[in-house]
Amino acid sequence: MTDYAGRLRLGVNIDHVATLRNARGGELPDPVRAAQLAEEAGADGITAHLREDRRHIIDSDIDRLMDTLRVPLNFEMAATEEMQKIALRHKPHAVCIVPEKREERTTEGGLEVAREENKLAGYIAPLREAGCRVSIFIGADERQIAAAHRIGAQVIELHTGAYCDAHAEGDFETRDRELEMMREMSAYANSLGLEVHAGHGLTYDTVTPVAAFPEVMELNIGHFLIGESVFRGLGPAIAEMRRLMDAARA
Ligand code: PXP
Repeated sequence: MTDYAGRLRLGVNIDHVATLRNARGGELPDPVRAAQLAEEAGADGITAHLREDRRHIIDSDIDRLMDTLRVPLNFEMAATEEMQKIALRHKPHAVCIVPEKREERTTEGGLEVAREENKLAGYIAPLREAGCRVSIFIGADERQIAAAHRIGAQVIELHTGAYCDAHAEGDFETRDRELEMMREMSAYANSLGLEVHAGHGLTYDTVTPVAAFPEVMELNIGHFLIGESVFRGLGPAIAEMRRLMDAARA
């Protein structure tokens, strides 16, 4: 079992700055500027998801992020040939494989790894050889985690969406069940030697229990932080998330 006593990292996802830009066309607001501000505010990494339909981040954003970032880029992408080529051209620090289409989703919302094991193993091998840390975005499901381990992923990112949705809906029984599953599965993944990350839908109200899991090394948070930055500015929005994460870990 790995000892993960280090500081919990915060990866700031800047996709929705690009969503706002694309709503008007043109170049503003610039997600790369948001990434630079996030770095200054203490983000340990920047996450960006290049979708097949380019609905938010576009290719030139990735080019500019690779040229300008001082912290590592976590490049989220679907397991397609096109995305693999782009990742191999840039060789970002980390590549997180996420589902792109509904049919690729498990009920928990992450990638269906177990059914696609051979295909995914072949898909991620060149990414690993290129030096990227490969992460798989999955639900808190033992079968999926074991499969992620077997295919050679170094990291899993647990999908916190169902937990956050249940909290927002006031369904505390489901919320607590989801949390318990994530707690157990973080420990299980860690026992296999996988590094554990978590994210999706996290807010100031939901971050604390997840940040408190000792095996979780990184949280990736976007939509809430970008929304909150309208009210308090991006730097202060990130600083408050950082404070809550550190307090949960203390
Ligand atoms: N982690 C992964 C793998 C994601 O795909 C996303 C974006 O959906 C996030 C984290 C961040 O989620 P959110 O924007 O809801 O904070």
